[in-house]
Amino acid sequence: MALLNILILLLAVSSAAVRADEDPFIGVNIGTDLSDMPHPTQVVALLKAQQIRHVRLYNTDRGMLVALANTGIQVVVSVPNEQLLGIGQSNSTAANWVSKNIVAHYPATNITGICVGSEVLTALPNAAPVLVNAMRFIQSALVASDLDRQIKVSTPLPSSLLLDPFPPSQAFFNHSWNPVLVPMLNLLQSTGSYFMLNIYPYYDYILSNGVIPLDYALFKPLPPNKEAVDSNTLVHYSNVFDATVDATYFAMASLNFTNIPIIVTESGWPSKGDSNEPDATLENANTYNSNLIRHVLNKTGTPKHPGVAVSTYIYELYNEDTKPGPLSEKNWGLFDANGDPVYILHLTGAGAVLANDTTNQTYCTAKDGADPKMLQAALDWACGVGKVDCSPLQQGKPCYEPDNVIAHSTYAFDTYYHQMGKSPEACDFNGVAAITTTDPSHGSCMFPGSLGRNGSSVNITAPSMNSTSASSSYRIYSNGALRSILTVIRVLICSVILPVERTEMFRH
Ligand SMILES: *[C@@H]1O[C@H](CO)[C@@H](O)[C@H](O)[C@H]1NC(C)=O
Ligand SMILES: *[C@@H]1O[C@H](CO)[C@@H](O)[C@H](O)[C@H]1NC(C)=O
Ligand SMILES: *[C@@H]1O[C@H](CO)[C@@H](O)[C@H](O)[C@H]1NC(C)=O
Ligand SMILES: *[C@@H]1O[C@H](CO)[C@@H](O)[C@H](O)[C@H]1NC(C)=O
Ligand SMILES: *[C@@H]1O[C@H](CO)[C@@H](O)[C@H](O)[C@H]1NC(C)=O
Ligand SMILES: *[C@@H]1O[C@H](CO)[C@@H](O)[C@H](O)[C@H]1NC(C)=O
Ligand SMILES: *[C@@H]1O[C@H](CO)[C@@H](O)[C@H](O)[C@H]1NC(C)=O
Ligand SMILES: *[C@@H]1O[C@H](CO)[C@@H](O)[C@H](O)[C@H]1NC(C)=O
Ligand SMILES: *[C@@H]1O[C@H](CO)[C@@H](O)[C@H](O)[C@H]1NC(C)=O
Ligand SMILES: *[C@@H]1O[C@H](CO)[C@@H](O)[C@H](O)[C@H]1NC(C)=O
Repeated sequence: MALLNILILLLAVSSAAVRADEDPFIGVNIGTDLSDMPHPTQVVALLKAQQIRHVRLYNTDRGMLVALANTGIQVVVSVPNEQLLGIGQSNSTAANWVSKNIVAHYPATNITGICVGSEVLTALPNAAPVLVNAMRFIQSALVASDLDRQIKVSTPLPSSLLLDPFPPSQAFFNHSWNPVLVPMLNLLQSTGSYFMLNIYPYYDYILSNGVIPLDYALFKPLPPNKEAVDSNTLVHYSNVFDATVDATYFAMASLNFTNIPIIVTESGWPSKGDSNEPDATLENANTYNSNLIRHVLNKTGTPKHPGVAVSTYIYELYNEDTKPGPLSEKNWGLFDANGDPVYILHLTGAGAVLANDTTNQTYCTAKDGADPKMLQAALDWACGVGKVDCSPLQQGKPCYEPDNVIAHSTYAFDTYYHQMGKSPEACDFNGVAAITTTDPSHGSCMFPGSLGRNGSSVNITAPSMNSTSASSSYRIYSNGALRSILTVIRVLICSVILPVERTEMFRH
């Protein structure tokens, strides 16, 4: 009994070695094997509508990095496996890669990590000898650019590198990879980076031939006698995910690395499969991803490191219809190419990541036949006191045409309405505005809330990296000082004559 207590104490103390001060997050992977891959601007519109604030890209696509600029979304980019040999063999190639793909976009695009290759040891074993060099070269190029504190370098590894992952306390990595893993872990430790782990309970379950119960893979509650017990630590595991994360902590510890945090770079479940893939169903995919999101965000951590964040990127944002292989390979996505959800996640708590209300979008527009003077006053109010960024309405900007007060005020009203969390009172503007379900976006003028569903009718202009993102949009909207003064006067008058319901609006 005393021994057990000491063991538990040791486990508890050891969790202090891994940082416990960070909040976990959920991100998504953005694969691009789609026959009609949405334009980067549409991808970013979907991310915003779903309040997804962390993404991982499999490359450094310039269009995506530009579209992600000034969005507040944190981005992990990747060195594709094809470029690994070149980068791992030449530090100048690595330095050029960093300068072209990272330095050129940071800080407008908030790049926070670089995945050097993807599952290199299993997917491209002949590049294994240069993997750590590639990571070192990229790290030193970041140091030279003074970006190494903001941007972490690592490489996603599959959980299949763990031999006999259960019980977790006895797990170790396939020893034949120690010559790569030991210097890699040294690098991760000395640079304060993460161990990037890909976890697929779907495959663990299938390959286990019935040893792993489906409920254990899906985070469903298990009767206590079905829970997996680690016979060394007597810890009960109620899901594959936690057991795999802890097995990885123990495997690192067996190589004497005890303070490297883990981030899960891929996890998910396919929603559709061939007839010989009966567990790839909408219901299982929904259950897995919903439970995963709740589990990660609940800050429970794992039994070995309770409370320590295991942030996770869901695999993946879109179904990738042009992926080769079985039907399940094409159906890991949360959304189809139109931005429609494949299933509505069982998540409670509106406003959280992956909001479930994207199929019924609402917009706020100027009412037909409204008095132009009242529209102008409301427009000025929205662009001024209302803090709407009206710079897209300037001449030469996407929403300038058609240059009339109805179109311009519709843009400003809808933006304000979305800023206010679509509360119905935010779409009144003294009675000249109304809520509609028709997306008023036109040409390259994308409205807030628009997912740009109909790609063919949306002519998107990717935002320019150096276009000013207005902190005081109203200043930018107004062309010249006279106009500004007039607007200020109008706003003042407007606020004085505002009826009661308008003052309500100010308080939001
Ligand atoms: C690249 O390698 C050369 C020779 O090995 C070394 O002198 C140089 O400092 C390295 N440059 C960087 C950026 O690491
Ligand atoms: C990137 O995001 C992190 C986390 O929110 C934040 O601390 C940092 O300031 C951001 N960096 C830039 C350049 O926006
Ligand atoms: C360990 O990795 C080596 C090299 O990839 C591989 O040949 C071997 O089969 C692996 N061992 C096991 C038990 O999977
Ligand atoms: C880990 O550290 C212990 C004690 O210092 C040492 O005996 C052991 O050889 C080390 N193991 C490895 C894999 O470095
Ligand atoms: C979140 O964690 C708390 C405390 O650990 C637990 O009581 C609760 O059931 C968890 N909620 C979910 C949804 O997992
Ligand atoms: C969306 O989420 C809310 C809150 O969790 C829930 O009440 C609602 O039923 C969900 N909507 C759909 C269509 O599933
Ligand atoms: C959208 O709204 C319609 C009509 O109110 C409703 O029938 C439909 O179920 C809604 N769809 C979703 C996904 O909420
Ligand atoms: C997209 O818009 C074009 C032009 O407005 C229209 O012809 C087409 O039918 C629309 N497609 C869909 C799928 O709505
Ligand atoms: C769409 O964009 C292209 C290229 O920027 C431009 O040539 C074309 O005129 C635009 N079409 C519309 C309808 O705005
Ligand atoms: C924006 O970038 C373009 C192309 O890189 C350049 O020609 C232009 O001068 C820049 N504008 C500003 C305001 O910096």
